Amino acid sequence: MPTFQNGQSKIEYHDLASSSKQTPLLLVHGFPLDSRIWIDAGRLLSAQRRVIVPDLPGFGSSVTAAPFTMASLADDLVALMASAGIDRFVIAGLSMGGYIALTLAKRQPAVLAGLIMVDSKAVADDAAGKAARSKMIETAATQGSTAVAAAMMPKMLHPAAHTDRPQLVAQLNDIMTSQPARTIEYASAAMRDRDDFTAFVPTLKVPFGVVVGAGDALISNAVAASMVQTRGSLFVIENAGHLAPLEQPDATAAAINAFLHQHAAEVR
Ligand code: MLT
Repeated sequence: MPTFQNGQSKIEYHDLASSSKQTPLLLVHGFPLDSRIWIDAGRLLSAQRRVIVPDLPGFGSSVTAAPFTMASLADDLVALMASAGIDRFVIAGLSMGGYIALTLAKRQPAVLAGLIMVDSKAVADDAAGKAARSKMIETAATQGSTAVAAAMMPKMLHPAAHTDRPQLVAQLNDIMTSQPARTIEYASAAMRDRDDFTAFVPTLKVPFGVVVGAGDALISNAVAASMVQTRGSLFVIENAGHLAPLEQPDATAAAINAFLHQHAAEVR
């Protein structure tokens, strides 16, 4: 994997090259995850365009030397894309990756050609959500990633996966338990302190899409649909929970391709 150093962040990323001249696509993973949740869908999408799939700082093979925020992660991603020679792109972010995508859209709108929220939401944490983040920080600090993974596992996949897809459950467990406890602490604080983007979404100037697993236990289909009330398109992925690209890479890639096709003239 190529590496990009940006200040305190060392980012490793997959560069799924394509001979196509279509606008490139950046795929951002969620929490506590890494590029492995996107890679199969990314390979499919790279038939149409260049696709970049990073491990965010501190996750997977990437490193952070300091705490981060949604804003610093967004800025890291813009710098990463610039270093790869890409100054305008479409971003698709899963869950925490969607929070970063909205942050990026607000901070640096000129680089974006389109935005896709995948199993994600625009609304910030309420008081109970913020308290749960602080508890997660304590769990990570005192019991490590394994305890965090065990707490999150029941809600990550479509319920049927726990009986029907043992390999997928094992793969996800491997991904979650391999994230450093310190990164989990930083990310939980960054998500707890993130802005609310509910009022910002309808003001977006680029094509906007929402993809959600039909069985997502963390982002209800109603919450996903609420983001496209005024503009944008909704794609529901059957037999998927909170991790549509990992659970159903073909259907997720097809939804993203359909969205990009719908907006081909604006995305270019
Ligand atoms: C994620 O998948 O990134 C997390 O569920 C996001 C969150 O905890 O808000």
